Amino acid sequence: MRFIQALSTGIILALCTSVNAWNRLEKDNAALLIIDYQVGLAQLVRDYGTNDFRNNMLAHAALGKTFDLPVVMTTSSDFGPNGQMLKEILDMYPNTTVIRREGEVNAWDNADFRAAVAATGKRQLIIGGIVTEVCTTFLALSLIDEGYEVYANTEGSGTFDPRLAVDANRRMEAAGVTLMGWWAILCDLFRDWRHVPGLTELLPTIDKYLFAYGLVARHHGAAIVNGTLAEIQRDFIAN
Ligand SMILES: *[C@@H]1O[C@H](CO)[C@@H](O)[C@H](O)[C@H]1NC(C)=O
Ligand SMILES: *[C@@H]1O[C@H](CO)[C@@H](O)[C@H](O)[C@H]1NC(C)=O
Repeated sequence: MRFIQALSTGIILALCTSVNAWNRLEKDNAALLIIDYQVGLAQLVRDYGTNDFRNNMLAHAALGKTFDLPVVMTTSSDFGPNGQMLKEILDMYPNTTVIRREGEVNAWDNADFRAAVAATGKRQLIIGGIVTEVCTTFLALSLIDEGYEVYANTEGSGTFDPRLAVDANRRMEAAGVTLMGWWAILCDLFRDWRHVPGLTELLPTIDKYLFAYGLVARHHGAAIVNGTLAEIQRDFIAN
């Protein structure tokens, strides 16, 4: 009897919690959240090099411009040591109000922030913040509880130590947050190189923030425009 009860409870739970493995980002249903990208807090980040993390923050922020997503930006105690939002990001969104939290650690505890997220009208939220296990994770878990689909840009959050990021990511994933890097988020949003935005619109952004792929494109271009093959190279390509 116990076994049958346990079995049926298990089946009911399985039905309740079943989600699609392939929860795709839809650019018309997504908004971008930029959390605490502040010049003081950014100095705490030790799981990425400083230059890489600057790139990661700007790349995360650029997703909004690239796909014309609604953007919600917030800072934590920006009058104190946490510092101001990166100027480059303010310049990217001159008309977006920064929601300046005066004390709330979890952005969701701030009524203006909740209203701004609701005002986007979007159910899929792409988030990045400093630090991963606090500003990103606390918010991500609150958003899941509110019924949003949350996509944490794993390159858009940083913390003191890689171990903390691993633990935070595990906690978020267990709660149903989707963890993706910038490239996967970008690819899921555009879906097809022939779409608009597609190759033509996106390659400059890719070259800027994901130079590895920029190199591939440059190398291919240079080889076609002015390349020659040594005889021995022919053995390595399909005819
Ligand atoms: C910001 O708003 C001003 C005035 O409405 C407008 O001219 C400008 O194009 C806007 N800038 C951006 C980046 O949206
Ligand atoms: C293109 O290739 C030719 C011949 O291999 C070479 O003389 C020329 O300098 C190259 N141009 C550039 C821009 O690399």
